[in-house]
Amino acid sequence: MFSLRLSSALVLIFMLPHLLEGARILAIFPFAGPSQYINVLPYLKGLAARGHEITSVNAFPQKEPVKNFRDIPVPEVIESYEELITELSNEMNLWKENNFCNAFFIGTTKSVLRNAQVQRELLQPGKDHYDLIIVEVLRTDALYGFAAHFNAPLIGFSTFGTDWNIDETVGNTSPLSFTPLPTSGFTDHMTFGERVRNFLQTSIAWLNWKLVHLPLQVKLYEQYFPHIAKSKPLMEVSKNFSLMLLNQHFSLSYPRPHVPNMIEVGGLHISHKPAPLPKSIEDFVVGAGSAGVIYFSLGSNIKSNSLPLERRQMLLQVFASLPQRVIWKFEDDQLVNKPANVLIGKWFPQPDILAHPNVKLFITHAGLLSTTESIHHGKPVLGLPFFYDQFQNVERAKRAGFGLSLDHSKMTALELKQTIERLIGEPQFTARAQQISARYHDKPMGPQETAIWWTEYVLRHKGAPHMRVAAQDLSFIAYHSLDVIGLLLAVATLILAAISFVLFKLLRCLRGQSGTSTQKLKNH
Ligand SMILES: *[C@@H]1O[C@H](CO)[C@@H](O)[C@H](O)[C@H]1NC(C)=O
Repeated sequence: MFSLRLSSALVLIFMLPHLLEGARILAIFPFAGPSQYINVLPYLKGLAARGHEITSVNAFPQKEPVKNFRDIPVPEVIESYEELITELSNEMNLWKENNFCNAFFIGTTKSVLRNAQVQRELLQPGKDHYDLIIVEVLRTDALYGFAAHFNAPLIGFSTFGTDWNIDETVGNTSPLSFTPLPTSGFTDHMTFGERVRNFLQTSIAWLNWKLVHLPLQVKLYEQYFPHIAKSKPLMEVSKNFSLMLLNQHFSLSYPRPHVPNMIEVGGLHISHKPAPLPKSIEDFVVGAGSAGVIYFSLGSNIKSNSLPLERRQMLLQVFASLPQRVIWKFEDDQLVNKPANVLIGKWFPQPDILAHPNVKLFITHAGLLSTTESIHHGKPVLGLPFFYDQFQNVERAKRAGFGLSLDHSKMTALELKQTIERLIGEPQFTARAQQISARYHDKPMGPQETAIWWTEYVLRHKGAPHMRVAAQDLSFIAYHSLDVIGLLLAVATLILAAISFVLFKLLRCLRGQSGTSTQKLKNH
């Protein structure tokens, strides 16, 4: 079914101009969670279908062979992943959280660079060549070294849109006054207090990046790319992105500035036409009648059976009391006390279910892919966020008027039931979801064609250095004009000092003169 959906997408891709010979492309997507790779795979396969030869370093290799596409599997990155998810769901201070992520991604970076096949086929100097490197922009900076190693243009892909760090990587302006940290849960309209917190939190993240993260990555880079580390330091390589593809769209979040080589491709993972549902699911959905169906999934990272038993029982009790039917993506075969109106399964064709007109509500962990799918299909959401950008995605949904949220660990049965009733019963939530959906779909090219078009643009124009803003060649001090402000302040201080000096002299002179004139008067 996936291939069926993919082929309808490919028809559109073939309508792009054919200008190039196939390029050799190295894609590096080593993140241990499946959702990032699910997001990018249709784009990579689309490039392969266009005649490019893809080598993909990832943890989820293809089960069936794909033409022009080969995997270099790095399944070892998955080992510490469960730990990351559990840890990040706990409360931590920001510095600790950053350090924890640094350590995790150092593990990922090392796993890739130490992998035997990577060493044999990619790391030997002069052994092979690639025309383009596409890499997920995570905290795995040392991997940008492959671009320097193969002397090829570098394209970055960010699964969560942009943030202060990606902005810095391509020299994009992003004032902290309206660009919140993805983890903060703030929107682009912040109160003064929120702006203070955003400023402090971003500064902490920035300091941690410079003081802890970068030195660790530079060390790895110098260790694994010793032949180029001198001539091309990591700091320069990581400012050399030809293109940054962002899994975001302004209709889904908020409008913000982007330099010319940042391109929004939000919704890249969704096929163009929903496929019909498998018979058993179709029957369940249609059988719900006019009451409709609720689709409930916590995504691929959070397992439903890791919810405490008491929470699961509470959910079931609420679901049993609803007139709707519920489809619950649940990873165990057995769910004790499962009511008749609940259907469970380890995997469901989520986008196709959301596309069904009888599905009225999506209860989700509010990952970016899921919230994008809800807008794609114009369905309201009930967000139960767990970590990272999920809080922000939920805030956006609330603010935009197509969603509500609850704290999964604290919500009561009554709160859950009432929130579901509101979202389904009050028509404005669905109306709003459909309005935003219409805005999202109204664009000249779909996200996948856009991503492929710009990728080939970079190939056609040899890295397209003309798109790179000059900010990339400036120091922190020059970029923020601190030197100019410093000079102007110095000049102003000098002028003020000169004026005060003259005035002081003048006054003394005047006083001296008046002193002598009184003397003169007295003497007369
Ligand atoms: C930057 O990228 C271009 C190709 O796009 C390459 O020729 C150049 O060597 C790169 N510079 C560094 C420092 O990586």
